[in-house]
Amino acid sequence: MGRITLDKVSKSFGEVEVIPPLDLTIDDGEFVVFVGPSGCGKSTLLRLIAGLEDVSGGEIRIDREPATHLPPAKRRLAMVFQSYALYPHMTVRKNIAFPLRMAGLDKAEQDRKVEEAARVLNLTDYLDRRPGQLSGGQRQRVAIGRSIVREPSAFLFDEPLSNLDAALRVGMRLEISELHARLKTTMIYVTHDQVEAMTMADKIVVLQAGRIEQVGSPLELYRTPKNVFVAGFIGSPKMNLFSGPEAAKHDAHTIGIRPEHIAASTTEGTWQGRVVVSEHLGSDTFLHVHDTGLAEVMTVRVDGEFDVRHGDSVFLTPEPDKIHRFDAAGLRIA
Ligand SMILES: Nc1ncnc2c1ncn2[C@@H]1O[C@H](COP(=O)(O)OP(=O)(O)OP(=O)(O)O)[C@@H](O)[C@H]1O
Ligand SMILES: [Mg+2]
Repeated sequence: MGRITLDKVSKSFGEVEVIPPLDLTIDDGEFVVFVGPSGCGKSTLLRLIAGLEDVSGGEIRIDREPATHLPPAKRRLAMVFQSYALYPHMTVRKNIAFPLRMAGLDKAEQDRKVEEAARVLNLTDYLDRRPGQLSGGQRQRVAIGRSIVREPSAFLFDEPLSNLDAALRVGMRLEISELHARLKTTMIYVTHDQVEAMTMADKIVVLQAGRIEQVGSPLELYRTPKNVFVAGFIGSPKMNLFSGPEAAKHDAHTIGIRPEHIAASTTEGTWQGRVVVSEHLGSDTFLHVHDTGLAEVMTVRVDGEFDVRHGDSVFLTPEPDKIHRFDAAGLRIA
């Protein structure tokens, strides 16, 4: 249940091919995140899986059954959108029960399923309220509840948290991860936020211009990005990437080093530069350093107590075994 395979699936809108033929397997019970910049085709890919768009070519299978031409309702997938579209005049109970009522389930069975979903989502105390009396996060949970009761083979989420404020996003991120741990149902989650991708996914699919750049676990992508795009996209703050003589010394066209893999000192080190900005987060400080002769600006993560200011001189030393090397085509050199 919940295994989804895409075989040379492609999509064009008129003349424009937004997804060139693409292969992907999502295993039963996996939490897969599609991540990539705006316009790269994440929503389109999800909508093809859901059946909300027709493929231009290729085959989709769900639980080994051909699903390419099945209408959305027959795919047993539940889509949770960014705007949660609850019925404002109905209570939470009625909103969650809605698909069951449509399916003609008897009242006792409806109640049982709604109460079970409410328990899983910590909504038991809110069943008699209306959506207008709930917070954004609670409303989002009601929308998820409405899909849980349908017992889908997989949940498809398209940026479900982007309307929420920063603190609530972090809370909901945890809740969705916990929900996945409890239900063990396949989830496909679309986001452009690489932090969400890193923290939630079993498997991340990095997309650019409709192509899969890399598929792997969060740590695989972090440790061994296949190319410069993935290297720059995964990780926060971003990996420092630079070309020129320093890269040539490492027999590479471009080298990359993450901010957390560079040591800073006020007295000695490999590269010297000047601090443009130091961002104090408390636990850590991010130094933005220029005039190193490397990248325009190098970003370095140092201890929160490291005390330098704008204009101070600072020495930087990379951890030698944490340097990523890329060729002229941007591909990783092993
Ligand atoms: N119905 C459509 N007709 C024509 N072009 C479309 C249509 N839907 C999407 N596109 C184009 O397909 C590309 C991918 O769009 P998509 O919505 O999948 O991107 P996305 O990765 O979800 O972006 P975002 O992060 O901004 O939501 C874009 O270039 C978009 O303009
Ligand atoms: Mg989108």
